[in-house]
Amino acid sequence: MIAVSRGGRGTLVEYRGVSVSYGELLAVNDVSFSVERGEILCIIGPNGAGKTTLLRMTSGLLRPTGGEIWFDGLRVDRMPAHRIAALGVTQLFQDIQLFDNMTVLDNVMTGAHVWTDAGLIDTSLRLATAVDEEHRVRHAAVQQLSLLGLAGVLHERPEALSWGERKLVGLARALLCRPTLLLLDEPYGGLDTEEIDRLTKILAALVSGGMTILMVEHLMDVVMDVADRVIVLHYGEKLAEGTPDTIRGDERVIATYLGD
Ligand SMILES: Nc1ncnc2c1ncn2[C@@H]1O[C@H](COP(=O)(O)OP(=O)(O)OP(=O)(O)O)[C@@H](O)[C@H]1O
Ligand SMILES: [Mg+2]
Repeated sequence: MIAVSRGGRGTLVEYRGVSVSYGELLAVNDVSFSVERGEILCIIGPNGAGKTTLLRMTSGLLRPTGGEIWFDGLRVDRMPAHRIAALGVTQLFQDIQLFDNMTVLDNVMTGAHVWTDAGLIDTSLRLATAVDEEHRVRHAAVQQLSLLGLAGVLHERPEALSWGERKLVGLARALLCRPTLLLLDEPYGGLDTEEIDRLTKILAALVSGGMTILMVEHLMDVVMDVADRVIVLHYGEKLAEGTPDTIRGDERVIATYLGD
């Protein structure tokens, strides 16, 4: 168990009656909950429950057709994705999406685009600053990769790495955005037990450093271990919400999801 008592520092994200349709399909239906600062909140539920859809709405890749999403006191559900990213929301996608024609280091450096580009008008000044910035970004990327135990593969192509290592590269890139809120879509998928342990320790370190994590995950052992709270989605609706222990004992959750 790595879960320590956190929370009590107020709400970071609030979903108010959020819905979205893909054509005829109501993928998320009137869902309300909040994410508290400094917690790991896990979203669970069967395939097609709307978990990824909810993350995509949070990072602005998809607009709700109803309801509101608030982040850090700002309404974000009508904002373009790049503005939401600049506010401190970063998503690690289920399929990671690394650039296979670039090195691991270059992949991770692309994560910094959120906070680079100082918006300078003067081109010569911008050039000088750009060189400086390139150094800073490279340094930050090397540091991040080293922290995640990937110092040995900086100049490899992602395709040369194991799935677990690729996931960590994706995470390093996401962390280079310096997120306040990290959105993870099945980060444990495809990892072996050693890698699972490692990722759990990394996430624990991130939240103790003040980060908030909203994570979709299928592996129930992991969820029970890392989550402060759990939201259960079922056919786009919120079926239950509570601590891992409450969720584990919830009869409706057992009947509709945990039972099989
Ligand atoms: N781009 C899309 N166009 C049309 N329907 C979609 C699209 N994306 C998702 N859906 C549908 O919306 C519903 C919710 O999908 P979503 O991907 O959010 O589920 P999920 O809970 O993440 O599932 P999984 O556990 O399989 O990843 C599903 O019925 C899915 O088929
Ligand atoms: Mg999904």
